[in-house]
Amino acid sequence: MTGELETYEGQATIEKVASLCRRRGFIFPSSDIYGGLGSSYDYGHYGVLLKQNVKAEWQRSMVQERDDIVLLDSAIILHPQVWVSSGHVGGFSDPLVDCRTCKHRFRADHLATCQCGRRPSKLAGETADCDLTEAREFNLMFETSIGPVRDEGSRAYLRPETAQGIFINFKNVTSSLRVKPPFGIAQIGKSFRNEITPGNFIFRMREFEQMEMEFFVPPADSQQWYEHWIGYRRDWYLNLGLRPGHLRVRAHESTELSHYSSGTSDLEYLFPIGWSELEGIANRGDFDLSAHAAGSGTKLEWIGHEERYVPHVIEPAAGADRAALAFLVDAYDEEEVGGELRTVLRFHPRMAPVKVAVLPLIGKDDGLVSIARDLYQELRRVMPAEYDDSASIGKRYRRQDEIGTPWAVTVDHDSLTDGAVTIRDRDSLEQIRVPVADVKPLLLERLDAPWHPRS
Ligand code: GAP
Repeated sequence: MTGELETYEGQATIEKVASLCRRRGFIFPSSDIYGGLGSSYDYGHYGVLLKQNVKAEWQRSMVQERDDIVLLDSAIILHPQVWVSSGHVGGFSDPLVDCRTCKHRFRADHLATCQCGRRPSKLAGETADCDLTEAREFNLMFETSIGPVRDEGSRAYLRPETAQGIFINFKNVTSSLRVKPPFGIAQIGKSFRNEITPGNFIFRMREFEQMEMEFFVPPADSQQWYEHWIGYRRDWYLNLGLRPGHLRVRAHESTELSHYSSGTSDLEYLFPIGWSELEGIANRGDFDLSAHAAGSGTKLEWIGHEERYVPHVIEPAAGADRAALAFLVDAYDEEEVGGELRTVLRFHPRMAPVKVAVLPLIGKDDGLVSIARDLYQELRRVMPAEYDDSASIGKRYRRQDEIGTPWAVTVDHDSLTDGAVTIRDRDSLEQIRVPVADVKPLLLERLDAPWHPRS
């Protein structure tokens, strides 16, 4: 892609973003009062709104704005045989080594970046005292058990991806809904993986949300649809404001491909930690439907008037938390305004948790409060809005900048006589005066208008 950067040069670091998220009520370390649970996070008010926007925009683009995709919400705990057929029981694992000296455990394929447990300035296995075991495969699925007796027969798994719930419902969907290949089934939901090396805030967690879509196509058309979905998904991120120079498509080398895939491309984002996977788009062939047909004894195929075949599958698989992190990092900016540091989240307005803040200049002035309250009531019916009459106007602006609110409407003494208010733009800091009755239509128009990220 043109303009692609080599290394991250922005203002954000993962630490700064995590700190702002905590301070401003987006995301908290989970189980905080018990000392925290590694790589587990709880979403606060603004984080919930942000992640809801990510999921809503995904659903809008995948389902609402298309005619060929339907929704599904499958169970998290599926029949254990599902994970045998899918290959997860046998193969969803990472190779691990233990150090008999420091008792730490490392990914065998990441030893070149793992710190020694005793001497962090050295790599694992690098010192004379390091005593590493042979690599063993460690399955990443979380196990649980069904019913009161915990034995081999009651073993079940928390799903490590939402995709398999879609494949096992292929027959239900094709026999109950008006679908015909090419068509897709989309699902948003939690997945669980006992990751060995989680980290980088919400980039890699053990519990996370996925947004996956399985697109079933005639086998001969699979390459064309694979290419369609790479472009369509890339455009989704760009249309929601990610800077083009921070997004790229990387096709997997043949040695990287999963056993089921004849082609996979990652959409990568330039995080402060470097280029990293944001979403994967895979051509999965007929692997999944054939595997579940064999495992269940149920035929999973498309039967048309004059045709019968096992569709091939193109899968765009995204992470809602990872996308939220990309939008946060991309939006994060610091600048000097009037000799003071301003931290601002320059979200695309559709991604912003709160769209508008209504601020009476003096919180104790009944006349100003009355106009501001009425306007707030009018706006909150059509968009997430906040009313704030605490602290100085400067502090209130700073707070709204830090949560990424694109517009602040100030009601001042002139409003009492001219019936107008001031709209402040978060990014340009431009202030315009408009009649109070025009605020709602103006903001609705701006919310719908194309928006361009900073370069
Ligand atoms: N069904 C295919 C599949 O699950 P994946 O590449 O393992 O593919 C898809 O996962 C997306 O889910 C990733 O691109 C990433 O955005 C997100 N994801 C995967 N593991 C994650 C984790 N441990 N924490 C947060 N997000 C994760």
